[in-house]
Amino acid sequence: MKLNIAVLPGDGIGPEIMKQALNVTQTVSDKFHHELSYQEAVVGAVAIDETGDPYPAATHALCLKSDAVLFGAIGSPKYDNDPNAKVRPEQGLLKMRKSLGLFANIRPVNTFPSLIHQSPLRAELVEGVDLMCIRELTGGMYFGRPQGRSEDGNTAYDTCIYTREEIERILHLAYKFARQRRKKVTVVDKANVIATSRLWRQIAQEIAPQYPDVETDYLFVDNAAMRLIQWPRSFDVLVTENLFGDILTDEASVITGSLGMLPSASIGLHTSLFEPIHGSYPQAAGKDIANPLAMILSVALMFEYAFELKDEGALIREAVNASMEAGIVTEDIAEGGKAYKLSEVGAWIVEYIRNK
Ligand code: IPM
Ligand code: MN
Repeated sequence: MKLNIAVLPGDGIGPEIMKQALNVTQTVSDKFHHELSYQEAVVGAVAIDETGDPYPAATHALCLKSDAVLFGAIGSPKYDNDPNAKVRPEQGLLKMRKSLGLFANIRPVNTFPSLIHQSPLRAELVEGVDLMCIRELTGGMYFGRPQGRSEDGNTAYDTCIYTREEIERILHLAYKFARQRRKKVTVVDKANVIATSRLWRQIAQEIAPQYPDVETDYLFVDNAAMRLIQWPRSFDVLVTENLFGDILTDEASVITGSLGMLPSASIGLHTSLFEPIHGSYPQAAGKDIANPLAMILSVALMFEYAFELKDEGALIREAVNASMEAGIVTEDIAEGGKAYKLSEVGAWIVEYIRNK
């Protein structure tokens, strides 16, 4: 198979973790006899520095003609601390999501037994957690217009809009994922207050009977936030709108204590994008100390979701688990044991895959 990939390392530790991810991609491609071709482009703060635009047209053109996009991280303290900055790296992210039609952000959250004690929750609550958050990514309050301020500057407004089509396509996706998992979908909304949420719930109630083998649960978002920390094992697939999803996916990603380990996929109309959940970690940039595993596991998701190559994804996951079992880990999860460099962890995983 020919794998045609756009590579966007981005800011901070992005380039370092991407380098390891590409080594893994190349090694797996060689092993399974796939032809890999990839091209790099800029995004985020580096793109602003180079072109003035956090998501330049050339980057967009490259993504459009690629079957998958590997994305590192964006964000830079230079912009975070400047309230007057006119362009921000995050705008690049939103523009990229919208223009590539990346409508579903998928975050699998599962436990790594050796990291459970890093969870803010008691181990017995977290053991065996295996859930998947599906967040709608191109609608809702993030993109609804009008958005702005009154002339005197003392009143501000946002608009939350969802169409039937947007809601239907993400709900169907949630059911399809649930069918390959434990067959339960939890639809999260605020249908007791918000009109868009009432439409979500109405459409979910229409769609649910088309999947009689899947159990459907409805939760208000406040209740869902509570249940996620009280009883995280009760979730299988959780599906929700953009802003609720932004908040709940952050909550979900820390309950297992393995934030630095979690990958994500954004499924799109034109292409799909794969990135670690963590940010650009600017304090560690260039130091060869950051944890590359979430980026490498994003490559596993790419093989599985973008190319439907399950064995390739499984081998990467196996290699990552083996590296952890062998204690070849970066300082964030070394806990008193020897801390390996980012590049050493990457090299170990590449060797494991090569020798398999
Ligand atoms: C995320 C981030 C972004 C979002 C920001 C950086 C715009 O928090 O990917 O979850 O809110 O969607
Ligand atoms: Mn977020």
